[in-house]
Amino acid sequence: MIETISQDRIPRRKLSDGTQIPCIGLGTFGSDKYGADQIAAAVDAAVRMGYRLIDCASVYQDEPQIGRVFHALFSEGVVRREDLFITSKVWNDRHGPGQVLASCEQSLRDLELSQLDLYFVHWPFPNYHAPGCSGDSRNPDSRPFHVDEFMTAWRQCEQLVDEGKTRYIGMSNMTIPKLEAVLPLCRIHPAALEMELHPSFQQPELYDYAVRHGILPIGFCPMGSPSRPARDHAAGDVSDFELPGVAAAAKAHGVHPAVICLKWAVSRGQIPIPFSVKEPQLLSNLRAVTEDPLTEAEKKAIAQDDRNCRLVKGQVFLWPGATDWRDLWDEDGTIVQ
Ligand SMILES: NC(=O)c1ccc[n+]([C@@H]2O[C@H](COP(=O)([O-])OP(=O)(O)OC[C@H]3O[C@@H](n4cnc5c(N)ncnc54)[C@H](OP(=O)(O)O)[C@@H]3O)[C@@H](O)[C@H]2O)c1
Repeated sequence: MIETISQDRIPRRKLSDGTQIPCIGLGTFGSDKYGADQIAAAVDAAVRMGYRLIDCASVYQDEPQIGRVFHALFSEGVVRREDLFITSKVWNDRHGPGQVLASCEQSLRDLELSQLDLYFVHWPFPNYHAPGCSGDSRNPDSRPFHVDEFMTAWRQCEQLVDEGKTRYIGMSNMTIPKLEAVLPLCRIHPAALEMELHPSFQQPELYDYAVRHGILPIGFCPMGSPSRPARDHAAGDVSDFELPGVAAAAKAHGVHPAVICLKWAVSRGQIPIPFSVKEPQLLSNLRAVTEDPLTEAEKKAIAQDDRNCRLVKGQVFLWPGATDWRDLWDEDGTIVQ
């Protein structure tokens, strides 16, 4: 029997038009470790438990299995479609004319939905890597960010809103220079920015920029993605669970450090989208946002845990001639072309 957390105990966040969405969601990327059926079973358990925001993507290769779960949950009357906030994302090899529209249609078919709640451009590059590739894999066709290419994808996202295929659109893996370049060109403003956010990688400038521009930050890898694929491990990566502020708070609250990472995320204001296929973890992650919040002193201590430690560096998207993964992130404040 799955334990259920009542909806009125789960805080909510507001999109810029006032629409309220849950302050926590469920990730669905299996990190090349968990299979599609396992992940779909986790979605089923999570929704029964009380999760209402589910973060999907075509590249996760599990949308058909998750779609079957949604269908069954609606048919059984466990939830209504309008009770869930479902996202998906267009993958990098589908940015060209017409391809974003087709990719969204495919996700809708796979997820067995007539409308998404939020559709993201997953990465701001048309650079493809095969699912499960190694960290040194490179695609010779990769190119640096280009405003016109990005806007070709974004215009299609805007069309998807016009056609009612998605309620909102969003961007992911962006930087301030890229946002500065594209926001003035957007007819429909992004509702959300999906970005890497965890105690050792707090991205304060980008986070504040998004909030200032009415864009809701959604934090991926909220617990530092301990099971991330081998390609996303590098020397010098920090474990969030061992950070002094996180570890001290975990001891004080008598919980796993993962739970503290989530408490920190919701106390700051981003929506964390933790992944798990394990029922006890799913439950403690949801409970993290409903009880026993961090003290002001603990929040201050965790603010000091920032190590500027990006885990998803994206090096597999580098183009010929690029120096290293930092080129993807415009670290000197200008767009690298
Ligand atoms: N937009 C993007 O480019 C992008 C990039 C990356 C991720 N995402 C999204 O963000 C989601 C979350 O990111 P993520 O899965 O990489 O990282 P994460 O949520 O930080 O880490 C997930 C892992 O943490 C462990 N965990 C979960 N709950 C726990 C608990 N209560 N106690 C102890 N350990 C716990 C589990 O490891 P074990 O399985 O080993 O137990 C789980 O696999 C993804 O699923 C995906 O939806 C988006």
